[in-house]
Amino acid sequence: MPAHESNKTIFLEHPSGSKAQVSLFGATVTSWVADNVERIFVSKEAKLDGSKAIRGGIPICFPIFGTKEKIALPQHGFARNNYWEYLGIVSDNDEVVVRFGLKDTQIPQEARNAWPHSFRLTYTVSLSAKSIKTFFNLKNEDEDTFEFNTLLHTYFSVPDVTSSQVQGLASCEYVDKVKEGAKFTEQNENVTIAGEVDRVYKKVQDRLILKVGDGSRIQIEKSNLKDTVVWNPWIEKAKAMGDFGNEEYKNMICVEAGSVADWVVLAGGQTWTAGQTLTVA
Ligand code: BG6
Repeated sequence: MPAHESNKTIFLEHPSGSKAQVSLFGATVTSWVADNVERIFVSKEAKLDGSKAIRGGIPICFPIFGTKEKIALPQHGFARNNYWEYLGIVSDNDEVVVRFGLKDTQIPQEARNAWPHSFRLTYTVSLSAKSIKTFFNLKNEDEDTFEFNTLLHTYFSVPDVTSSQVQGLASCEYVDKVKEGAKFTEQNENVTIAGEVDRVYKKVQDRLILKVGDGSRIQIEKSNLKDTVVWNPWIEKAKAMGDFGNEEYKNMICVEAGSVADWVVLAGGQTWTAGQTLTVA
């Protein structure tokens, strides 16, 4: 079987040898192995029992990014904190394709009160020899328009974050959350990490390259998502997180494709599709 379920996790296997795992909690991709190398970081301290969003992998932030004063939802919304329904294998030709679903009736009443809209999210994970695609389709099942933010909070595994580089952000404006939200324009062709980094880059081109630092590269291609967040907690924030090892900041970098700087507006009855394709090169 190219995909099977065990212990609330879906295991995908492609004939080329590439593999992936998706937890039903948050429909969080928790592993992607391509060319025999694990590309995704999950903390050794991550809670995998559904008590907390998984610290690592590709959590989905929806319907908010961060916290919002007027929307009483936990940071980054409810999609990463709830069990999704496994909708099964869609096709197993060249790609192994599995689908997950989340709708408003599956989330707790408290969250529905905080964001009172009817919606249907379908998340599709497609695995091929060199790529993993993570795309979602959102349907507004209300008659009225609603607004949301969303982000694929991808944690990449790197051998030494100070040797990693993100290429393709030059000349983008960014909000620096480490500097009280001050705005800057990126001057560097390659963004490097040498301290805490928490930046929301706006209107980013669709194709970025993560130079992992061991000679390999991952192309991050987003689709219908405007922004990219780059995050590494560095020393003090790492120590402050209960579900993250003190030294693990050295082995991860988050490059997160999303639409978070402005609300996405979706009219009643309409659908919206967006996602990313990660490819090893
Ligand atoms: C990033 C945010 O996307 O997620 C950071 O920009 C935040 O500000 C980080 O610290 C992790 O968030 P959380 O809720 O998973 O601890």
